[in-house]
Amino acid sequence: MTAQIIDGKAVAARLREAIAARTASLGFRPGLRVVRVGEDPASGVYVRNKDKAAKEVGFDSATIALPASTTEAELLAEVARLNADPAVDGILVQLPLPAQIRADRVIAAVAPEKDVDGFHPLNAGKLASGQPGLVPCTPKGVMHLLKAAGAALPGARAVVLGRSNIVGRPMAQLLLAADCTVTLVHSRTRDLPAECRRAEILVAAVGRPEMVRGDWVAEGATVIDVGINRLPDGRLVGDVAFAEAAAHCGAITPVPGGVGPMTIACLLENTLDAALARRG
Ligand code: GUN
Repeated sequence: MTAQIIDGKAVAARLREAIAARTASLGFRPGLRVVRVGEDPASGVYVRNKDKAAKEVGFDSATIALPASTTEAELLAEVARLNADPAVDGILVQLPLPAQIRADRVIAAVAPEKDVDGFHPLNAGKLASGQPGLVPCTPKGVMHLLKAAGAALPGARAVVLGRSNIVGRPMAQLLLAADCTVTLVHSRTRDLPAECRRAEILVAAVGRPEMVRGDWVAEGATVIDVGINRLPDGRLVGDVAFAEAAAHCGAITPVPGGVGPMTIACLLENTLDAALARRG
């Protein structure tokens, strides 16, 4: 079987074009503020990419860079200022944060209607109880890719590998909301390969390079690889051994060029949605 390669770059570009067209007709510019604390180099790249993409679709975007020595109280004060600023529709505090700051306190301090990461407990609770709200960007991007790949979701057996608050848990909720039969598996699951082999839709989000081997993948399955892992030799690989899996599956996302570009496009979508809800 020759697997279909799901082109996340192309799907993300189409989504960004649609957002730019809707933004141009609004009569105001949705406001996004990305807050970065400290000098984590990977975060620096992510934050620059988010800000650039937001400006390209016509948003009023700015990055607020705070020193690594920032206290939790100082960061909470900055979040409170952004919550109160009427020009700001979306607030994103880039994770990870320095050790002296409790991330859960900061996440809970963001106004839920400006929480474009979808990490606030109120938005997580809405997702878990089937109510509309802001949804985390990466799992939202995966749902766009499944749709673009033409995956039949109702009744499908979906397996999510990984239980993080950023990807695995909200991913399971979104697949459930789309009427899949969902299994959430993780590092303590017995016989992971057997669980994964049952999947018609397999989403891998564990952050372990090429952990999912070819014989973990059912014939014809749709495989979505959320992992972005840098190997010691500099190569970028996913959580799935791509060539092995592609020999079995019906469709698969590459790394890079699969889920990655969708995360930023969905941040823009959330920011537009938040702006419309606040002032539309
Ligand atoms: N760090 C890695 N991924 C993310 C994300 O989706 N949002 C935020 N705020 N920080 C991150």
